Amino acid sequence: MARTKPIHVPNMDPSDMPSLDPAIYASMGEEGVFRMLSEVYCRLEASSIRGMFGEDMQEASQRSAAFYVQLLGGPQMYNERYGNPMMRRRHFPFEIDEASRVVWRDCFYAALENAENDYGFPPEHLPAFKAFLERFSKWMVNTA
Ligand code: HEM
Repeated sequence: MARTKPIHVPNMDPSDMPSLDPAIYASMGEEGVFRMLSEVYCRLEASSIRGMFGEDMQEASQRSAAFYVQLLGGPQMYNERYGNPMMRRRHFPFEIDEASRVVWRDCFYAALENAENDYGFPPEHLPAFKAFLERFSKWMVNTA
């Protein structure tokens, strides 16, 4: 989908993100992280922002999972496979406004409801991860 509105820059400092403990990856492993993202993308597939994504949601989920592997303390899987993340820039083709951000965030939060059982996510680190998602998703907003 081609962009029709100008790029909007959120009024925030992107360097000020909650830090994530590598104990998260140590507990989940690659398999747990990929399963978590697969679940997030199932929810996105059923959401009102489905149309933003390409046809194959599970393929998209695997690119995202590689990013979360490195974010949560695993090897630099995203950088090795796809290069420098430059996440904001990679999202420029998609018109992400505050309403679509909330849909995206709520799909992720819903996938985290039983995160300890489902993916081995250490529960003591869940609040920081949710705070990270909240803040990073605000930084991905690129449309007023
Ligand atoms: C704010 C709401 C967000 C929306 C609506 C959104 C939407 C999208 C879309 C449409 C794609 C392309 C998927 C495809 O290939 O079909 C994508 C890719 C991706 N997103 Fe987001 N995103 C959001 C926030 C985030 C956040 C906060 C992160 C990370 C913390 C993130 C990480 C990624 C990654 C790693 C990819 C894969 C990039 C690649 O193709 O290599 N996104 N996102």
